[in-house]
Amino acid sequence: MNAALDNQMNGILEYVKERRAIDFSSYREGTIRRRIAARLAKAGMPDCESYLGYLKENPKEIDALIEALTIKLSYFFRDPLVFEALRHFVIPSLVDIGKEETIRIWCAGCARGEEPYSVAILMKDFFCGEGVCRNVFILATDIDRDALRDAASGIYKADALNEVKKGWLDEYFTKEGDNYRLKESIRSMVAFAYHDITAGASPAEGVFSDYHLIFCRNTLIYFERDMQEKVLQSLYESLLDGGYLALGEAESLSGSLAEAFREIIPGTKIFRKGGSRS
Ligand SMILES: C[S@@+](CC[C@H](N)C(=O)[O-])C[C@H]1O[C@@H](n2cnc3c(N)ncnc32)[C@H](O)[C@@H]1O
Repeated sequence: MNAALDNQMNGILEYVKERRAIDFSSYREGTIRRRIAARLAKAGMPDCESYLGYLKENPKEIDALIEALTIKLSYFFRDPLVFEALRHFVIPSLVDIGKEETIRIWCAGCARGEEPYSVAILMKDFFCGEGVCRNVFILATDIDRDALRDAASGIYKADALNEVKKGWLDEYFTKEGDNYRLKESIRSMVAFAYHDITAGASPAEGVFSDYHLIFCRNTLIYFERDMQEKVLQSLYESLLDGGYLALGEAESLSGSLAEAFREIIPGTKIFRKGGSRS
């Protein structure tokens, strides 16, 4: 339950949680209000109570509401300067780790795959340029199952690709009508899976542990501050010492977590684990 929302709005969120096991109660009040209001207007419902009734009678509306609440704006190489910093400072240091070690990367809140595939292209390009060969594991997770399905198909409209360098577009994509399909050599580098980052601490062992690099960009921004901190703490635990955390432009670390990381280049929002905190 989100204390800042009235009972009727909480009732809508409760119903979504009951039907789809997604808990939006720790999402920002303003975002929830705006998104529910937009669905109400679209469905032609005068108030939240009527909308809840409508939701119960129209199961497809639950998916439309989840679609509205999980904002999936993304595109390849979003914030190009961040990718430049990754290319020149982060990836070379990852490649320096033991040759037998798999480089582990996790994109939490991956939308339709634009971000993890950008990272895969960057890694592939680096390896080709430097003539090195390394095992790379890229896990990409989200709570929107439709987005994960789209991601796995690797098909994109041209406007998601504006920041892709021409050479990479030619090398890694095939044009299909108005769309572009990502080649298998890049698609096969990314494993997509459903995971809710608000659902509690990630296990200290297993698939959510020992990462060299974690992206969690433009996702925390939709959560209330308490939840942001909880998620950041859990990402901290999923990172190896010396690992990197990339946040979105409007996201930040605070309190003891700000001391536990240092930003590698001011303004990039790429932080390296290894401060005073144990
Ligand atoms: C704005 S997109 C960001 C995509 C990409 N990281 C980027 O920066 O371009 C936010 C993504 O977070 C996902 N998301 C929202 N809440 C989530 C949660 N609790 N667990 C995992 N993913 C979540 C949404 O479905 C959406 O795909």
